Amino acid sequence: MYKNEIPMTFPKNFLWGGATAANQMEGAWNEDGKGLTTAEVVKKSQNPLEMSANDVSMNTIKVAMSDMTDKMYPKRRGIDFYHHYQEDIKLFAEMGFKAFRLSIAWARIFPNGDDKEPNEAGLKFYDHIFDECHRYGIEPVVTISHYEMPLNLTLKQNGWFSRKTIANFTHYTETLFKRYQGKVKYWMTFNEINAITGGFTATGSVDDQLSLNQQSQLRYQAVHHQFVASALAVEQCHKIDPKAKIGCMLARMETYPKTPNPIDVRANQLQDQLNLFFTDVQVRGEYPEFMNRYFLENNIKIDMDPEDEKIIKHGVVDYLAFSYYMSSVVDATQKPEKFNGELLGDGKNPYLETSDWGWQIDPIGLRITLNELWDRYRIPLFVVENGLGAKDKLTSDHKVHDQYRIDYLKKHIIQMKEAIKDGVNLMGYTTWGPIDLISAGTSEMSKRYGFIYVDQDDEGNGSLKRYRKDSFYWYQKVIASNGEDLS
Ligand code: BG6
Repeated sequence: MYKNEIPMTFPKNFLWGGATAANQMEGAWNEDGKGLTTAEVVKKSQNPLEMSANDVSMNTIKVAMSDMTDKMYPKRRGIDFYHHYQEDIKLFAEMGFKAFRLSIAWARIFPNGDDKEPNEAGLKFYDHIFDECHRYGIEPVVTISHYEMPLNLTLKQNGWFSRKTIANFTHYTETLFKRYQGKVKYWMTFNEINAITGGFTATGSVDDQLSLNQQSQLRYQAVHHQFVASALAVEQCHKIDPKAKIGCMLARMETYPKTPNPIDVRANQLQDQLNLFFTDVQVRGEYPEFMNRYFLENNIKIDMDPEDEKIIKHGVVDYLAFSYYMSSVVDATQKPEKFNGELLGDGKNPYLETSDWGWQIDPIGLRITLNELWDRYRIPLFVVENGLGAKDKLTSDHKVHDQYRIDYLKKHIIQMKEAIKDGVNLMGYTTWGPIDLISAGTSEMSKRYGFIYVDQDDEGNGSLKRYRKDSFYWYQKVIASNGEDLS
């Protein structure tokens, strides 16, 4: 719509805050009736540049189940948020958070995933969290499934590969919407639903014995079940709590062609389509045509029930949330080696710097992405993850001088503001890991994102005391000035 003015800054009710996930922070993995989850059988990486989260087989699960300690399995201990949540939410409030993104551990509510009755102690835990948030005027933003599910569903039916998991999930989501009606205004169904390269982490399905093609088949089938489950959850949510909003969540990586050669440009376009396929389904309510060809040429056949297309059409989301950390370069001559639909192309961009973990830092890419997503979907966007994983040093007087983190975030905030001036409808920004937590990919503690330092090392040693970093005071100013004071 033509107007002779542009928004000059962040909207008044912009949701500033931070984002976390249950399996990376709660700990208390075997307390109060909670069941074992898929995340708790993932070993920590031996090599920090390799993601152990993708490296799971039936055999490694068996080994994990016979080891009831958290030594090799850091996601079992997290940062003990379960027992520190009051202190932690108070610190978030001190920074001025308007929103706190967290996930619910499905196995706290339904320990086996297919139980008839929910576990009251699990439901109460999240009641306490939401009440605590509201005490400080913080809006909880809740991910229903963030890289974990009850392990029993893997053992029994190979996770999301099975259609049966849809019914288990809708029982879980209905329980949540009814219980937390009025307490939770913002929901999200699946974290980074497109990250199926993550295999087990994303789908709870074991596929290590399969060929690459069979893996693709299984993962796309699993994600189809997630699409149906997500759409059903959207419908439930709208019905049970019409005031609530429910979104989808995408791992967005901006990609560029390596050269202006049309073959690179086309390869990049395909890469982008494979990324946007997931939001096309969840926002537009249908499988996009380009996937027909992709599936056919890659021998993938999606098994759909006759009503699936209708369900997906009805269950379109209210907003699109996404994580953004980096960008990548697509080179037409390089074939993805691991898996069809590889998202994390590792093409190097000579114009960008990288983090210690090799992630290419690209703030302008965030503005580009925001414009692209807004142009394509025209629904509110929400940046629900962004941040720099770095090695921090705690000084003897318990300070952390993390100017590098401030620089990273500042540059991204500047680009978000540019996107708002471009006309993008952006509803909020929650940085990843406002308090240090266990890394999703490598299970390290030393890959820290937080404004709050947690005294714990990779082996789980430490007092678990929380300390404010320099970035804590910086973010406080950013929020208080609604993004104007970035100094
Ligand atoms: C996102 C995930 O992909 O990236 C988070 O949603 C994760 O769970 C974050 O923690 C950062 O990744 P990592 O591996 O550095 O923890």
